[in-house]
Amino acid sequence: MNRVCEILGITKPVVQAPMTWITSPELAAAVSNAGGLGILGFNAGFETGKATPEETAEEMRKMVRRTKELTDKPFGMNVMTSAFDAAGFSKATIRMCKEEGVAVLAAIGTLDKDQIREWKEAGFKVIYRDMSPTVASAKAAEEAGVDILVATGCDEGGGMPIEETGTIVKTAIIADAVNIPVLAAGGIVNEAMARASACVGAEGAYAGTRFILSEECRAALSVKEDILNTGADDYVVLTEGDGYLKWRSTPHKTALEAIEENRKGNLRPSTGSFYAGMLKGDLEAGINTVSSAACLIKGIDPCEVIVNELARGYGC
Ligand SMILES: Cc1cc2nc3c(=O)[nH]c(=O)nc-3n(C[C@H](O)[C@H](O)[C@H](O)COP(=O)(O)O)c2cc1C
Repeated sequence: MNRVCEILGITKPVVQAPMTWITSPELAAAVSNAGGLGILGFNAGFETGKATPEETAEEMRKMVRRTKELTDKPFGMNVMTSAFDAAGFSKATIRMCKEEGVAVLAAIGTLDKDQIREWKEAGFKVIYRDMSPTVASAKAAEEAGVDILVATGCDEGGGMPIEETGTIVKTAIIADAVNIPVLAAGGIVNEAMARASACVGAEGAYAGTRFILSEECRAALSVKEDILNTGADDYVVLTEGDGYLKWRSTPHKTALEAIEENRKGNLRPSTGSFYAGMLKGDLEAGINTVSSAACLIKGIDPCEVIVNELARGYGC
């Protein structure tokens, strides 16, 4: 049996990756009902941001309960490790997840070995994604007790890794370095890309962009159409002044202006721009960030169709 399926208690090794603002109970449940693993991302299903960790956790509790109404299958929650969570937002959410019996934590941020041990002792399955993965961090995560690793290449949508290694090479390197299962993240948008990642050692997909173009994703229709209308040569990469944060974006007005602003050292992409751009569809005010493989996606499909297609790439 596929090890990812075995560990997560699912039937298809396809994880819907967390995406700030645009995931929801409906999306996560649809993926889990199709046999994959749905994940509630930051502000999943929220209409507005919450000011405190406690308010955030309570709003997220409603989303967890709604997800449980829609599926009896496992699903996960996106959290930050301690190093990324100075204000305690994830800490409060994790406490709530324990109370509500959420099965899986999908963590980003610098590895904290003690924290991983606590999560494991609390009964969570842990998927860990170093945003700029290295062999050293993969080995450290394996040693710390992480169940499943994500190998993120710079083909991904959202915040891109600092190092410009593509998904296939990154997956091959990480899968070669560890014994725990590895999910490929970045450009896994169809069966062929899934199969390519399987050939180099991935045992499943951690797919974000493909699920934006699902019927159940609450991203604005104008955003979905913008992605479908963007050609392979049209993406732009937005970089913060310090060169660290990079987002691949469709080339709407804001993105082009943002490049100009970036040249002047003024660019400040924030989660606010995801809210305006991707959730509300205001492409003048926000960013529409996607994988470099987004142009390979040919339509807006039900999650079940997407899960089945990607799973075939892993022989499931
Ligand atoms: C619009 C968007 C928002 C994202 N937001 C988050 C986030 O809040 N937390 C996170 O851990 N990853 C986030 N990611 C990264 C995804 O979890 C995943 O690693 C990535 O989408 C995989 O690459 P793909 O988009 O090519 O499938 C985001 C990705 C996208 C496209």
